[in-house]
Amino acid sequence: MRRLLHLSDPHFGTERPQVVEALLACVAVIGFDLAVVSGDLTQRALPGQFRRAARFLARLHALSPASPVFLNPGNHDVPVLDPIQRFGDPFGPFREAFGTAPESHYEDEYVHLQVLNTTSRWRHKNGVIRAEQVSRSTHALQGICPAKLRVVVTHQPLAPGPGQDSSDLLRGRQAAIRSWRSAGVDLVLGGHIHLPFVTNASHDGGPPLWVVQAGTMVSRRIRHEAGNSFNLIRFEAPTGGATAPVCRVERWDYIDELGAFRRVATTPLPLARP
Ligand SMILES: [Fe+2]
Ligand SMILES: [Fe+2]
Repeated sequence: MRRLLHLSDPHFGTERPQVVEALLACVAVIGFDLAVVSGDLTQRALPGQFRRAARFLARLHALSPASPVFLNPGNHDVPVLDPIQRFGDPFGPFREAFGTAPESHYEDEYVHLQVLNTTSRWRHKNGVIRAEQVSRSTHALQGICPAKLRVVVTHQPLAPGPGQDSSDLLRGRQAAIRSWRSAGVDLVLGGHIHLPFVTNASHDGGPPLWVVQAGTMVSRRIRHEAGNSFNLIRFEAPTGGATAPVCRVERWDYIDELGAFRRVATTPLPLARP
């Protein structure tokens, strides 16, 4: 079983120090083979907040030095308080702090992962998935081995959770859902609304497109219905004649009374190939 650690929305500058320590202690035990942080690494894109986020990432990396970690920016990582930076090079501070581009692509024998930057300098809060990103990501999936898990990472959600309205969702999502379904994307990971949930964006009985949302991993900016949390996605290559990988997502919540993270839900994600 491979382990994809899905963290999101730490909002460094508003982090709860005891939760940061509990998270690292938990990850040291459960381990990971690759990790994603799906945006909003800082609260206001200030230099000190980027430094704190970078220190956390260094500690995370030290727990599993051979496991790659991927990031994309969220709307909070754009320097809105510095208009020259925002309009000139909005993702410059992100690149400088983490030494990584706001988009990335990774592939090994088990997984195909594309991290897309859905944060716009113009549309500060609601993200957008552009036609060019959809076509580039779809093209990259052509011809890949069906046994690999196919993952796309955004910041804003691709679909609403149960009982939610359509606010805070990605603009351009309908076209993305159509293209990614036909390209055989399995999972779309996101954050932004600090509400963990799993939902199927495919409603016609065809192959599922699972939207996996993580809550805020360590921030005080929590909703009344959800505290700090993260996801661990476990997957393995198909066996016994199946063509798609076997996959499930675990949700881990911070339990205040324990001062520790605990697994609170496990959701199987049945996958299919078009
Ligand atoms: Fe956020
Ligand atoms: Fe956000």
